Amino acid sequence: MRDLLASLDGLRGRLPEIAQADAMHLQQLRTELLGRKAGALTAILKQLATLDPEVRRTVGAAANALKGELEAALDARVRALAEIAGDEAAHDLTMPGRTAWRGGLHVLTQVVDEVCDIFREVGFTRAVGPEAETERNNFFALNFPVDHPALDAQESFYLGDDVLLRTHTSPVQIRTLETHPPPVRVVIPGQVYRRDTFDPSHSPVFEQIEGLAVDEGITFVDFKATLAYFARRFFGPRTRVRFSPSFFPFTEPSADMAASCSVCDGRGCPTCKQTGWLEILGSGMVHPAVLENCGVDAERYTGFAFGMGAQRLAMVRHGIPDIRLFFESDVRFLRQFAGRGR
Ligand code: DAH
Repeated sequence: MRDLLASLDGLRGRLPEIAQADAMHLQQLRTELLGRKAGALTAILKQLATLDPEVRRTVGAAANALKGELEAALDARVRALAEIAGDEAAHDLTMPGRTAWRGGLHVLTQVVDEVCDIFREVGFTRAVGPEAETERNNFFALNFPVDHPALDAQESFYLGDDVLLRTHTSPVQIRTLETHPPPVRVVIPGQVYRRDTFDPSHSPVFEQIEGLAVDEGITFVDFKATLAYFARRFFGPRTRVRFSPSFFPFTEPSADMAASCSVCDGRGCPTCKQTGWLEILGSGMVHPAVLENCGVDAERYTGFAFGMGAQRLAMVRHGIPDIRLFFESDVRFLRQFAGRGR
């Protein structure tokens, strides 16, 4: 009888194993312990008939109690495994992982940084100025005539009698020249404001990148070569540039620069409106009157300046069809550019 009770204890010792078993092992354990033909406990129960009544009672009670325990443990493990499997079914393991949203620089910031980096490599530092400007810096020091239409309240956002939201980044040329004697080489990114209504290519606020180089002996050749270099760096080595006569009060001569369309390589496409060219920037040799207004000797110093629209560059670079996308902060738009840039 002692042997039999010891065997029962041995079988009870398998309980922890049941609690850990996976589905297949569980099936094996059930057969091994309780199987009708070869089950270890079944074998003991079968022997009961051959025992003395006294012994049979004791061993029988212990064996039946153990049978109940083993069955309960096996059933509990079956339920536990089913629960785990249910949880896993709710998770489709073939689905792409949920990655943490890391955020990133706005596509416009990326493009502005890229432009500034290109110019930094050829000696331009980055400067900034305030968005609220005086009429003097925004217009008069830049040689605008007093009756220029941009001075009209219909065109610009005035904050006071002679303070307005700057209509371009050019007033930072004035601020720079007044505080830094030449040689000067700066790029100036910043927001500018005009009374335009929103449409796919206009916005009352947008970003410009201004450039200014003033030194002794700067010529029209330096001007063209620097901007052509920029265009090739930004749009690619095959890019051709075209300068055409233009007019700005603060440059003389003035020129608009176009780059061969980087989308169609100049063959004609919707981005370049079939012309093969993209108008990129306004520019020119700094007007001597501007230099003099800033206390710079125009006999000794010359320079060039340029201004371009940052959204326009980003739109061409990434095929963005509508300027309003830059302002709407729609993550479906923003996300496409996340992780790029720095
Ligand atoms: N300020 C001009 C504008 O807003 C752009 C511009 C043209 C800037 C010529 C310049 C320049 O520095 O030389 O349209």
